[in-house]
Amino acid sequence: MHLKPVNPERLPELLRRMPKAELHIHIEGSLEPEMIFALAARNRVQLPYANVEALRRAYAFTDLQSFLDIYYAGASVLLEEADFYDMTRAYLRKAAADNVVHAEIFFDPQTHTARGVSMATILNGLHRACAEAPAEFGISASLILCFLRHLSEQDAFETLEQALPFRDQFIGVGLDSGEVGNPPEKFARVFARCRELGFRLVAHAGEEGPPAYVWTALDVLKVERIDHGVQASKDALLMQRLAKDRIALTVCPLSNLKLCVFPDLASHNLRELLDAGLVATVNSDDPAYFGGYMNENFTQTFAASSALGAQHAYALARNGFEASFVDASVMRRHVDRLDAMFDGFR
Ligand code: HPA
Ligand code: ZN
Repeated sequence: MHLKPVNPERLPELLRRMPKAELHIHIEGSLEPEMIFALAARNRVQLPYANVEALRRAYAFTDLQSFLDIYYAGASVLLEEADFYDMTRAYLRKAAADNVVHAEIFFDPQTHTARGVSMATILNGLHRACAEAPAEFGISASLILCFLRHLSEQDAFETLEQALPFRDQFIGVGLDSGEVGNPPEKFARVFARCRELGFRLVAHAGEEGPPAYVWTALDVLKVERIDHGVQASKDALLMQRLAKDRIALTVCPLSNLKLCVFPDLASHNLRELLDAGLVATVNSDDPAYFGGYMNENFTQTFAASSALGAQHAYALARNGFEASFVDASVMRRHVDRLDAMFDGFR
């Protein structure tokens, strides 16, 4: 793809208009404070915050765990199939408005089943919104079930059992929640089982945790993508491995900023990852909590670094499609549209 020079002033427009894939979004992290309060009223759930403003004021995170505590509290308003449906529909509408044309969406069933919500309630709501999205918003979407790594492997196995009657409603499994102290290898057997069952495999690793966790996500869990992975730049051998095997990193700049993984966006290592030949992508993680959906992640990150230009925008968007789990023919069509958009941009 030959790229014409783009006036830096027009970079935000290019970033917003280019078609994108989002590969790292926790659907519970798309719950806006307004919807949390609306669902709390609908379901008669008592929240420990007086109003939307008080809840928003609590979004001052110092690390991953300080966020997770509030994120799990927010998810407690989800009880009925309609709640899961409404939440997913709201996300898909916003993503489509950002020119996201394909999304692979994480969900955390254990957060809900632990409160007595059934797997059927969760998946029927999430899946119906995803199935309607192409016709409704012009975006395709699939689901990835995440195991909570602060819980036991036995709990993950029980969750997998509960989900198997719905196996055609999700394409893969992932691993999220508190990373440090819960290394990937804790889930070796459940991931091996998921691999036998034909699920796509991903895991959060190297968000706060050490490069060693990225190694074991690859070598023990045999994941196909690493979620976050930004700590990999501390290990030159790991960087070579990620580049050689074209293992994508689903990087989430605003998340990293809000959870103090980097002190500011100008210090983020996205450009370093791209320069090392890694398949880095940009994603929103938990957009309702971290202050922005896809386009904000792109525009704020590029605004903070004059070293990022149109060729990086193209690489990031293209990497998103190449790292996605869509069929090769669908991927080709997305990349052709991306190329046409860059060609026509003046
Ligand atoms: N890391 C780990 N677990 C999560 C995250 C994250 O960024 N977001 C939601 N659950
Ligand atoms: Zn995440």
